[in-house]
Parts: sequence; C-alpha cells; structure tokens
Amino acid sequence: MRILDERVERYLHELQPTRSEVMAEMEAVAERDGVPIVHWETGRFLAVLCRTLDPVVLEVGTAIGYSTLHMAEQLQRGRVITLELREDCARQAQEFFQRAGVADRVDLIQGDARETIEAVQGPIDLLFVDAAKDEYERYIELAEPKLSERAVLVVDNMLMSGEVALADDAETEWRGHSLAAARALNVGLLDSDRWLACVLPVGDGIAFAARR
Ligand SMILES: C[S@@+](CC[C@H](N)C(=O)[O-])C[C@H]1O[C@@H](n2cnc3c(N)ncnc32)[C@H](O)[C@@H]1O
Repeated sequence: MRILDERVERYLHELQPTRSEVMAEMEAVAERDGVPIVHWETGRFLAVLCRTLDPVVLEVGTAIGYSTLHMAEQLQRGRVITLELREDCARQAQEFFQRAGVADRVDLIQGDARETIEAVQGPIDLLFVDAAKDEYERYIELAEPKLSERAVLVVDNMLMSGEVALADDAETEWRGHSLAAARALNVGLLDSDRWLACVLPVGDGIAFAARR
C-alpha cells in the first residue's frame, strides 16, 4: 500500500536535488543493509525547520544518522542530541557525522531512550520521534518536561504506508501493535489539550505539533 498516488510519488522523487556525498552514501548503506531511515521529504522537512528555528533538537532513534544529518547540516548555533539503542548503529552514525563535518553539532547518546532521556539537558525546541513505534507515547511523555514553551514535535511513520486507514483485522505489512500505537497516538495528539497537532502525508506520514 502507498500513501500517495504512484504518479505523484514519482513526480516528487524526480524533484529531489542532488545530496551531499555522505548523505548519498548513507542512503546507499541503508538500502544495502535494510536500515529503516526517513524518506528524503521528511528529512528535508526537518531540515527546513532547523534552518528557520536553529533549534536544540532531541531526536529519538538515530539509526545510522541519516535524519540527524539532514538537521545538523542546517544548524548554526543549534545542535542535535540524538538517542540510539544499538551500539553498532551508534558507532556507524558517529563515523558518518565525522566525515560529514557535523560532529561538533551532534551529541549521540547510546542506550535505551526510555532511560537516557532523563539526563538530557533542556530546553529542547524540536522533538523528533522515530524509534520503536509502540514506545512513541512514552518518549514524548518523558521529553515533555524538557521542552521549551514554543517547542515543536515531529513524529514519523504516523500513516505507516497508509495502513493505519485499514480495518483493524486487515492483512498488513506493518505489525498490528505498531498500527494500533500509531492510530492511538494520532487520535491522542489531534485531541490533545497539550498539543496543537496535524498529520501530514509527508514521507511515511508525520505528525507535526506545537505546544498549546
Ligand atoms: C527508524 S530507525 C531511525 C531512523 C533515523 N531517524 C533516520 O531516519 O535516519 C529507528 C531506530 O530507533 C532505535 N531504537 C529502537 N528503540 C529504541 C529505544 N528504546 N531507545 C533508543 N533507540 C531505539 C533502533 O535501534 C533504530 O536504529
């Protein structure tokens, strides 16, 4: 299943400009090793936010650092604190940050974000969530006390290839518990008295929210 019409998807793909050498290599590595990374459009959306807000970013889910690089490339005084569970991914990401010349703007903390968020120094201006799908709500809950008053939230995979729109018992590629978590979070954010949120069909679907 796909979120956008195939022709629209192809059109958007053809609009994409050439990436930096390291970013292109990360895409190739992710493709080769089956590492899930954000769609380029989501990376660019985050990059635009970083360009304009120059924020302190808290990213949950680094993998090899692809979305981190989109953001870090645009920062002037801002920085990215990024949290990753897996040691091998964290090591690979650090190497890419060095080579891309953004290591001075990125603090990578290896470990379970549900434990490491606590020690993160705020205030955080942009929270980007992209780790274990059924832990999203918990990451947001843990990070909330560290957010600045005007912080924005971006959450990836909120449409899950469009499968969130299918009936609960439909056959799907995404796992049932991930779909259930995304559906619950979409409802929770749209209905929240703490967040002013919308869901956008960018990449795999993102929730985008400001604090009320
Ligand atoms: C979808 S990938 C992140 C992709 C990355 N944001 C990008 O677009 O380049 C999700 C990552 O979250 C990590 N992860 C899963 N559970 C986690 C947790 N509890 N704490 C920190 N990282 C976690 C996984 O190891 C995986 O590398």
